[in-house]
Amino acid sequence: MATAIIYGSSTGNTEKVAELIEDELGDLVDEVLDISDVTADDMNSYDKLILGIPTWDEGQLQEDWETFFEDEMDDVDFNGKTVAIFGLGDQEGYPEYFLDAMRPIYDKVIEDGGTVVGFTSTEEFEYDESKAEVEEGKFCGLAIDEDNEDDLTDERVEDWCDQIRKYFE
Ligand SMILES: Cc1cc2nc3c(=O)[nH]c(=O)nc-3n(C[C@H](O)[C@H](O)[C@H](O)COP(=O)(O)O)c2cc1C
Repeated sequence: MATAIIYGSSTGNTEKVAELIEDELGDLVDEVLDISDVTADDMNSYDKLILGIPTWDEGQLQEDWETFFEDEMDDVDFNGKTVAIFGLGDQEGYPEYFLDAMRPIYDKVIEDGGTVVGFTSTEEFEYDESKAEVEEGKFCGLAIDEDNEDDLTDERVEDWCDQIRKYFE
């Protein structure tokens, strides 16, 4: 059962969080990959995935994820896979679109019959709207705001890894 962390990152924040998650989960993670180097076949070869995406340009996918969605995503099959999603956004700068880019990943996994683990509470965030809030009061994964709350990132990652570890053992 192989596990990969796969992220897209335009200014390095999501890459940093991917590395923090790798440090926390240690040997449970086999590979850490940038989405710009990944094909659908690569993604299909993992049973378990931890997928990281920042939201850009008012609710849009990060550019490398956008390319992956355009060229590869139709050939990915999440059926039977366990997936955890982490998203980066800016709740003060983009309160109408906070973490929106997590949603298309969530929707695709669910549509294919995969399982998304690692929901977190929306409680400590202040925003107006978020497509990542898939249930009342719940984001579909880990929410990180490096723009306004980078001092909370380490603790948020640790808590989340404690929550999801059992699914990746
Ligand atoms: C031009 C621009 C647009 C952004 N749009 C959004 C947005 O719509 N929603 C959001 O939550 N964050 C938005 N952000 C914040 C980024 O998601 C955040 O800075 C993130 O940490 C970037 O991650 P990266 O360095 O891995 O690319 C935006 C940032 C910039 C500079």
